[in-house]
Amino acid sequence: MLFLFNVLLLLACSPGVISQPSPEELAPLLQGLAEGPNELDKRVPLMTNDNTVAPLVDLQIFAPPVVPKGGTSCQLLLLNHSFGVGSYNAPAVVPYTPPTARNCGKVGEWAAISLNLTVYSKGTQYDRLSAIYLAHTEIWRSSSAEPTKTGTVWTTLKDVSHYTALFSKPGDLMMDFSNIIDPSLLLDGAFEVTLTATFFAPTKNFPTAKVFDTITPLSNLSPTLPNFFTIADDAGASTNITLPETTVEAYVEIFCSGNSAEEFWYLNTPDEFVGAFPESSGLVGKGPFREVQVLIDGQLAGVVWPFAVIYTGGITPSNWRPLTSYGAYDQPTYWVSITPFLPVLLDRSKTHSITLRVQGQGTNPSINSNWFVSGSVHSRTGSRKTTGRITKYSIGALDIKTTGGATAGNATVWTKVTAARKINIQAELTTERGTEVVSFTQDLHYSNDARYEDEGWVQWGSQTTTGTTVAKQRGTQVLRDAFTYPISVFSNYSLYTLEFGAYGSEIQQNHTRVLQPPVGVSRSIHSEQHAKGAIGMDNWPGLRHAINGTGATEQTFAYTDARGESYFRDAATKNDGWVRDVVWGTLRDANPPVPRNQIFGQGGGPGFRRMLHRRAGTGALKPPSP
Ligand SMILES: *[C@@H]1O[C@H](CO)[C@@H](O)[C@H](O)[C@H]1NC(C)=O
Ligand SMILES: *[C@@H]1O[C@H](CO)[C@@H](O)[C@H](O)[C@H]1NC(C)=O
Ligand SMILES: *[C@@H]1O[C@H](CO)[C@@H](O)[C@H](O)[C@H]1NC(C)=O
Ligand SMILES: *[C@@H]1O[C@H](CO)[C@@H](O)[C@H](O)[C@H]1NC(C)=O
Ligand SMILES: *[C@@H]1O[C@H](CO)[C@@H](O)[C@H](O)[C@H]1NC(C)=O
Ligand SMILES: *[C@@H]1O[C@H](CO)[C@@H](O)[C@H](O)[C@H]1NC(C)=O
Ligand SMILES: *[C@@H]1O[C@H](CO)[C@@H](O)[C@H](O)[C@H]1NC(C)=O
Repeated sequence: MLFLFNVLLLLACSPGVISQPSPEELAPLLQGLAEGPNELDKRVPLMTNDNTVAPLVDLQIFAPPVVPKGGTSCQLLLLNHSFGVGSYNAPAVVPYTPPTARNCGKVGEWAAISLNLTVYSKGTQYDRLSAIYLAHTEIWRSSSAEPTKTGTVWTTLKDVSHYTALFSKPGDLMMDFSNIIDPSLLLDGAFEVTLTATFFAPTKNFPTAKVFDTITPLSNLSPTLPNFFTIADDAGASTNITLPETTVEAYVEIFCSGNSAEEFWYLNTPDEFVGAFPESSGLVGKGPFREVQVLIDGQLAGVVWPFAVIYTGGITPSNWRPLTSYGAYDQPTYWVSITPFLPVLLDRSKTHSITLRVQGQGTNPSINSNWFVSGSVHSRTGSRKTTGRITKYSIGALDIKTTGGATAGNATVWTKVTAARKINIQAELTTERGTEVVSFTQDLHYSNDARYEDEGWVQWGSQTTTGTTVAKQRGTQVLRDAFTYPISVFSNYSLYTLEFGAYGSEIQQNHTRVLQPPVGVSRSIHSEQHAKGAIGMDNWPGLRHAINGTGATEQTFAYTDARGESYFRDAATKNDGWVRDVVWGTLRDANPPVPRNQIFGQGGGPGFRRMLHRRAGTGALKPPSP
């Protein structure tokens, strides 16, 4: 457990990081967790010893949207669709029209908009990535559970008030949930999706949300294919953009996730050390460091050092059912202020582009295939033409250092990657408000330690990303993102290639983030997660099909916001069953714990086990016919 100490040490002594979450800011989160719930759940019956609970309630912990109490609202069914045969690369596309009923509130003047994405799936399926777009602008990046034979259901709620400009106009609603049904691989789980939107009329205490008037997609705009950019090289993906000449403020919101050879980017091996392992061990190169960049006319404007989202099939699938890792069903997004770049973007003498690109540690290209990246520009216009000039453009070099070593014969190999980046961009803008100074600063630190044994089949990886992003306008802070994302993964695939082999892992991951987004309420999140599990495999059909396994996951989650709302949760699952789930805080009722009839108690559920019968005469194992 040497690695955990390394991580703690690193956290304790990273000086020079500006305005990280202060002890005062973290206190309410830790205090809320320490206090525990102050009421017993009276609404549900006591658990029984019945261990067949279907459908299994599966979830990613999230804080529910904050919406007005006591006002009127209306609900709209946006999509009801089954993603099954033929849904790979074939998003559902339906027309969206803003609701006009009186109880919804006036179009564009809503207090809040929340989405409810509920998915039901029964059978066998891998985790699949999903994205929802409105008017070709990504508004939600999600993924799926690996369902159970008796049915699995998961619901995620998301505040989408900051997309009011999109919801105010008719447009295409697109949902991609590329799924594969293939009986020869035993994949039969379709995803039955119900997506609803709830529009809340403003009330005296909860006025119309302050939002941006223009949202411009940074996406491929395809009418029929997934709209995110698929990035596998160093060129990234560019969008030509023309912002109104009266723009006074602009931000880019970014969605990004690694896929395929980049799914576990944070565990990828530096190229300098890939040669220490036989190719058969399947280690992926180009190192573990990734930076998602926003460039304007080819000039760096800001960066994202992303949180590592582990999908439900990630590393050891039995770890993530029925409690997923943080972000699996609602991935975090990131903000970059491009207000200091307005003098460039508003210059009408040429066309302008915004490029989203991913920087890794390899060469030509620096990443493997591939990343899915998209975004949108959120901007506010004033009443007169904005003019100005960039007064400071200081982009610190991306200072990546890779070191490492090995014992005799590469029996043990270790690597260390560190990186740091400082960005400071300032401009003087003249708008209807007069002349003002705007700035965007980032101060980011990264460290990754890895150790390998058994030719790379056993790996320890510990990574911490810490940073602070701040945007100011007229001396007022308009964006702050202060975060620490430590993750530590031990994985053991020593028996992976054996017939009837096995693999397992132990993972710890935290997400601590104080986010003041450019629109919406400032919020703090602290999530701690620990998961441990193992999978056994058989040889039918073909090698490495999971037949049984164990998995235990514990998570504590705390949310507080500037409105005074809070949400705390302490949950644990084991072997496909809920061990405990306790929720408290002011938002408890908006996202209550799983029903008591789903709680199996200390030992967890019956576990993940596929029924196998011996095929007469051959000695081979095959599943029972349906
Ligand atoms: C969704 O579609 C299914 C199948 O057509 C139907 O049974 C179900 O009632 C629909 N749900 C809603 C909310 O409309
Ligand atoms: C979310 O939608 C599902 C399916 O439409 C529904 O059963 C569930 O009650 C909704 N949850 C909330 C909190 O609105
Ligand atoms: C963007 O503008 C440039 C220069 O006018 C042009 O060459 C390019 O084709 C445009 N790209 C797209 C995607 O429209
Ligand atoms: C040990 O790893 C290095 C690369 O780090 C490689 O060049 C060398 O050939 C390896 N030695 C053995 C014995 O595999
Ligand atoms: C997560 O936070 C807890 C408590 O602060 C700490 O004990 C644990 O080591 C952290 N996990 C990681 C991976 O750093
Ligand atoms: C990895 O798993 C194998 C097989 O269970 C076991 O023999 C070995 O000790 C494990 N390695 C470590 C470092 O835990
Ligand atoms: C999984 O099945 C294999 C083969 O039957 C058995 O050896 C192993 O103990 C099982 N593991 C679990 C966790 O049930």
